[in-house]
Amino acid sequence: MSFNLDNIPSQKGKIAIVTGANSGLGKEITIGLAKKEFKVIMACRNQSKAESAKAEVLSKVNSADIEIMLLNLNSLKSVRNFATTFAEKYDSLDLLIENAGIMIPPLAKTEDGFESQMGVNYFSHFLLTNLLYPILNKTEGARIATTSSLAHERGRIDFDNLNAEKSYSKIGAYGQSKLACLLFAYELKRRLEKAGSNVIAVSSHPGVSKTNLFTNIPIDCSIPYGATSTQYLRTHLNMLPYQHCTQP
Ligand SMILES: NC(=O)c1ccc[n+]([C@@H]2O[C@H](COP(=O)([O-])OP(=O)(O)OC[C@H]3O[C@@H](n4cnc5c(N)ncnc54)[C@H](OP(=O)(O)O)[C@@H]3O)[C@@H](O)[C@H]2O)c1
Repeated sequence: MSFNLDNIPSQKGKIAIVTGANSGLGKEITIGLAKKEFKVIMACRNQSKAESAKAEVLSKVNSADIEIMLLNLNSLKSVRNFATTFAEKYDSLDLLIENAGIMIPPLAKTEDGFESQMGVNYFSHFLLTNLLYPILNKTEGARIATTSSLAHERGRIDFDNLNAEKSYSKIGAYGQSKLACLLFAYELKRRLEKAGSNVIAVSSHPGVSKTNLFTNIPIDCSIPYGATSTQYLRTHLNMLPYQHCTQP
């Protein structure tokens, strides 16, 4: 059966968190989930950007059940605050989509002193997964979707220079962070299965789409991200451990 959103029944009553939901693929995913009647928590770092993205989602899906919760992946404290706020309000979580990311910025460190791509793309999502796991674990059929990239193929985990203290390659650090995301998803899947958990771990390369991600590397890319994110959702809603979503 070919995949499209029409194949998915209503998911009313289910809750999804999408990190980086105000832009690019995260916003399109939010629209897709809202169409399927998920309650979507938009986990974003900037309130006003999140508000305007929410308004756009509502203009497309007027019945959308959307809530904004602030999450800045540049700060482990913010990750902890987000998880606490969520846990105070909800006792189930069906879908955690770890989508937010940055690509090839100039060298910078997170609030906690990590190289920014590794910190934002991987370490903060790792912590978020851990903090939300107790809620995921008590939700039947919950899943954790980690966003990798084809760039993982060029990545190498450089344990001697994890924090870019000796040298910094923007592309190398992006590849490293996306490889870390993918290895995490595989290891998480292995451990969940070994533990007999009902929680599913999946990951994807979402396809190449011209989004704000390319701010630091102007490329000409013609794939509309609405199309790509449908493929992206396929991985996140089907049971595929890892998928390249390159064909719209
Ligand atoms: N587009 C592609 O071709 C492509 C290919 C492979 C993989 N990916 C992956 O797909 C994911 C989505 O990327 P995209 O293309 O949709 O890019 P995008 O439009 O730039 O969206 C990235 C999102 O991440 C958020 N974000 C960045 N830093 C954050 C932080 N410190 N805390 C919280 N949120 C933060 C951004 O928020 P702000 O708006 O506030 O900056 C934005 O909402 C990324 O993980 C990326 O690596 C994309």
